[in-house]
Amino acid sequence: MLPAVSYAYVAGGAGDEWTMRENEAAINRWVIEPNFVSGHPTTDLTTTLFGSRIRMPVITTPMASHALFNTAAEAGTARGTEQAGSIYVSSSASSQDLETIAASSNGPKWFQIYFPADRGYARELLQRAKAAGYKMIVITVDATVISNREGSTRILGKPSPNSVMHGGNKPKTPGINPEKAALWKADLNWDDVAFCGAETGLPVIVKSIISVRNAMQAVEHGCAGVWISNHGGRQLDNTSAPMTALPRIADAINGRVPIIVDGGFRRGQDVFRALALGASAVALGRPILYGLSLGGASGVRSVYQHLETELQMVMQLSGVPSIKDITREYVAPHLPA
Ligand SMILES: Cc1cc2nc3c(=O)[nH]c(=O)nc-3n(C[C@H](O)[C@H](O)[C@H](O)COP(=O)(O)O)c2cc1C
Repeated sequence: MLPAVSYAYVAGGAGDEWTMRENEAAINRWVIEPNFVSGHPTTDLTTTLFGSRIRMPVITTPMASHALFNTAAEAGTARGTEQAGSIYVSSSASSQDLETIAASSNGPKWFQIYFPADRGYARELLQRAKAAGYKMIVITVDATVISNREGSTRILGKPSPNSVMHGGNKPKTPGINPEKAALWKADLNWDDVAFCGAETGLPVIVKSIISVRNAMQAVEHGCAGVWISNHGGRQLDNTSAPMTALPRIADAINGRVPIIVDGGFRRGQDVFRALALGASAVALGRPILYGLSLGGASGVRSVYQHLETELQMVMQLSGVPSIKDITREYVAPHLPA
């Protein structure tokens, strides 16, 4: 059983947790329109995402503090993700340092940064990530201040159990104060996004896009992709669900860059509906940490296996042979009777 502190941290959200609940509810406002008599079997779930061939369009979303869930910590999650043939995205607020995580598996890995107030520390983190072999920088933009996570606060006395926001990635550059380095940059702007690319030469994705405005700005600023998310309902409550924002953002982006989406995706049916509405891939959050809690790397792998079996079944019944064939004609808005 998970300690109460760990469970409160993973299971909760911000404010009234309206957005957290809405994330799952919004997926069910779309129904699958299957073609039961398609004449062909489903043969291929693989896809290529930013140059990495993966077993299906599902990846591991960045999450802090995996040591709260299993002693294998992030290395365990990264190994499980590799065994499942997918991409691991490492949070800058990881329990282990980014080098240990990078060395733990050979699978493709991206680095997610909470942009710190201290620019020297931002530079250090980005350069370390590049040197450790991460292939993409994901900058999370909806965390310039910690939110009102009242469930966690009731149990812990604070919104997050992390004693320092950078977790295992303590600054190594002489002169950087570790406590100051833990502060997030409150006046985050598009120059900071550009800085991530300029410092590393790596492609940059902006995570926690929930509006058409920010999605278009990300494309205009040369981002390689857009990651639709509201942090699993853990930051700004009363934003719309990613599944509600997805079709309008996909229309605005019009295929110019890949779209990743996360928030509330639990089943093959959910992944299918997101792909139909224009996502290139779905990222999984809490289910991965529950898998890690129960079985370390193999627990994570089994979450992926379960989803893969289900997605295969959904595609077969819907009559689509491969991922690229999942288009908008396979979903329709669910209208109340
Ligand atoms: C325990 C926990 C920690 C998280 N830590 C981070 C983080 O460090 N960086 C980040 O960008 N998002 C973080 N998130 C948000 C996830 O990346 C993702 O947006 C969200 O969990 C997706 O929703 P889901 O959990 O319903 O699948 C965290 C989420 C959880 C549950």
